[in-house]
Amino acid sequence: MMRFKKLAVAMAAVMALSSLVIPAAAEEETQKIGISMPTQSLERWNRDGSYLDEQFQAAGYDTILTFSDNDSSQQVNDIQNMLADGVDILVVAAIDADSLNTVMDEASEAGVPVISYDRLISNDASAYYVTFALATVGAIQGQYIVDTLDLDNAGDNVYNIEITAGDPADNNAPYYYNGAMDILQPYIDSGVLNVVSGQIDFDSVATDQWATQTALERAQNILASYYADGTQLDAWLCSNDSTALGVAQAIESDYAGDNTVIITGQDGDEANLANIMDGKQSMTVYKAVANEAVVTLSLVEAVLNGDTIDETLIENSDWDFECAYDNETYETSEGVVCPSFILTPTTVTIDNMQEELVDTGYYTVGDDGYLVAVG
Ligand code: BGC
Repeated sequence: MMRFKKLAVAMAAVMALSSLVIPAAAEEETQKIGISMPTQSLERWNRDGSYLDEQFQAAGYDTILTFSDNDSSQQVNDIQNMLADGVDILVVAAIDADSLNTVMDEASEAGVPVISYDRLISNDASAYYVTFALATVGAIQGQYIVDTLDLDNAGDNVYNIEITAGDPADNNAPYYYNGAMDILQPYIDSGVLNVVSGQIDFDSVATDQWATQTALERAQNILASYYADGTQLDAWLCSNDSTALGVAQAIESDYAGDNTVIITGQDGDEANLANIMDGKQSMTVYKAVANEAVVTLSLVEAVLNGDTIDETLIENSDWDFECAYDNETYETSEGVVCPSFILTPTTVTIDNMQEELVDTGYYTVGDDGYLVAVG
């Protein structure tokens, strides 16, 4: 009888203990972050993917990282799998701003918040947005062309230019194009700049999937049709590095004039930095994606903690880079503003490459003298 009583007491103690232990263990369950990147075929997303993955893991989260091969239905599947896997939050760089509606609605229904990463998703499930100042990227490119050709002192000179923009499915692409055209259009209107091919509007100059090969082939066609007679080409506005790579290649192989064509870019892809060193590209607009990941991590932590999200996220941070809170510019649908955290891009040329990219620790110098991205 005594024995039984002791056993009963012991069992009751174990049950009391386990009832204490279970909720505590549940509270400590590691939260899971779904990170959906567009593709590994464009250099920067590899870096974004690994910075995000590393930083979230270092902060103690579980992560699921996918690349969707620039195929939007694949991206829908990847995100659906993450939801099925019980992610607590999604960080998504959309391949196509408009193709994620169904899966975004599913995220909403599941109560999973979504952060639009770099590219805004056109769906109100996107609770917050982290990116670099989009129009500024284009404006920097346009202004670089204006300054380098000294268009304000052009006199009677006319300079010839061509234009290559990004993927029409990517919400960012028109911002880059418009940012640059706001600067260049007055010079086109006054006749100081001449787009010899006549291909100016966004749809005529866009590049599906930002593909190097597509940009290369279009540039070859333009060079063959409009410049084979010896017409001088002075500048080629390219919205990013993957397109600039194709344009530079076409100019190298298919343009007979002198090789001083100004070519702009964006991202700091390794091949493009090599081209800048070799004089085949003039500049790039660098965006420190490592910092974009830092902002995203802080934002996600704040969302998961249920904190109020506004400029105090920046004020309370120890970030050594610029970031602005913008609660006006970006809308996920008409009238629905997406609170945004906006980082500042940097101009990189041969002259400041060491200072901006190497001294800052973003790149190292490889054995061949060219820059290698860290991370
Ligand atoms: C990004 C650029 C990038 C392009 C192609 C855009 O959405 O903002 O940095 O060059 O996609 O990957």
